[in-house]
Amino acid sequence: MDKTRLEPYLFVIMGGTGDLMRRKLLPALYRLAIQNQLPDNHQLLAVARSADMDDNGFRSWAHDALTAAGLATEEQISSWCEECLHYQTLGAGTPADYRALANRIVTLEHAHRLPQNRIFYLALPPTAFMPTVEGLGEAGLNHSQGWTRLVVEKPFGRDYNSARELNHFIHRFLDERQVYRIDHYLGKETVQNLLVFRFANPIFESLWNRDRVESVKIMVAEDLGIEGRANYYEQAGAVRDVLQNHLTQLLTLVTMEIPAAFEADAIHTEKMKVLRQLTPVHIENDVVLGQYTEGQINGKEVSGYRQEPGVTSDSQTETFVALRLYIANWRWQGVPFYLSTGKRLHRQLTKISVTFRSAPVSIFMPFESCEIHSNVLEITLQPDEGFDLCFEVKSLGEPITLQTHSLHFRYAEAFGPLPDAYETLLLDIMRGDKTLFIRADVTEASWRIYAPLLEQKPPLYFYPAGSWGPLEAGRINFQNI
Ligand code: BG6
Repeated sequence: MDKTRLEPYLFVIMGGTGDLMRRKLLPALYRLAIQNQLPDNHQLLAVARSADMDDNGFRSWAHDALTAAGLATEEQISSWCEECLHYQTLGAGTPADYRALANRIVTLEHAHRLPQNRIFYLALPPTAFMPTVEGLGEAGLNHSQGWTRLVVEKPFGRDYNSARELNHFIHRFLDERQVYRIDHYLGKETVQNLLVFRFANPIFESLWNRDRVESVKIMVAEDLGIEGRANYYEQAGAVRDVLQNHLTQLLTLVTMEIPAAFEADAIHTEKMKVLRQLTPVHIENDVVLGQYTEGQINGKEVSGYRQEPGVTSDSQTETFVALRLYIANWRWQGVPFYLSTGKRLHRQLTKISVTFRSAPVSIFMPFESCEIHSNVLEITLQPDEGFDLCFEVKSLGEPITLQTHSLHFRYAEAFGPLPDAYETLLLDIMRGDKTLFIRADVTEASWRIYAPLLEQKPPLYFYPAGSWGPLEAGRINFQNI
């Protein structure tokens, strides 16, 4: 990344002392700063409710957070914190508080000779999105003499109607070009590479259709539970937390047509087309929901979902979902797509498996142990990022037997450690590149697919923590790995 292409800016984080800031944003911004990827002139203003904090208090909060993350030497942290970090209280968030924020912003810009390029990042719970956008807008912070960008973290709404409402509300104050909706999956190198893999390697693209592909599985499995986020997760569940966004974005990248150009609108338009071509989800036959009970992960006992702090003992929230989808277009008609995600599964694994059609007849059938397995392309997005193309080989000696082996590529072997998704996304926001962000209509269309599922929730099946999900998932021909 050529930092000379980045203009100076002020980065304002609403929710500046929250969990997202501590765990993701601050470390990512810090890493970018010490790698010299940010413009020399950049300032960060954390905004939060507390009136007990000031610039120095925030700098020492940030210092502790970065040290706890094991990020760098004492000296580097201190000088970045001193030079670039500031704090502003928002109190109760009254119009006067927002006017005070606007004044503070102008004062900082003046003191640091910044050209009114502003990023407002909403690192806030979703209930605070609209009041904050309104507060900023009414204080005149929705535009400036430079550029003003608004960053919204998922979830964007909790269903189709609320997503539309949120988009309309935001558009009252800002136009779509100013809005960056983050789905952090899109910042992962391996996810970005899906388009390169497909559109720079014609040998695969020519196989990428209903004539050659038998089925596609996309799985986001986590061994983690809800990590103390019961308040959020009880309202969300696996459908809202991962299926509607991360999994659906992966589905669009795997299935979309080649965009007219490698640029934001062309890509978003192709995503929209696929989303519109998805056939309605058949709740009875094509969806299985699950919830974890106690079990063992890596030899450690873990409690069930209903025993997690903050979860009710009769909670009906799903921590697992598997479903089958079809896309009614020329390329994919009739090919099943199996999407699944779950918490407290056997291990962390995000993987796309493309199974190709098997040989129409086998000349090896007369021999024993000569079952031919289909060719499968496995794209592992995390961990152990890479590709495996599985094929059959003859084992040594007689009689003839077949074995499955693979050609493989691993990112770590080729490039070393991968950057964090947030670093990529933050740089893109600073640069004004919207390719990896979600356009308003794409958000709404992704909710629309799952509307029937959210309205008439199917039954919940239980699975022990440490397994690969409820056995009932096999009913929709979903095999776990
Ligand atoms: C988040 C979800 O969006 O993605 C979490 O809210 C989930 O529940 C996380 O754990 C998974 O992201 P990653 O990058 O760890 O695969």
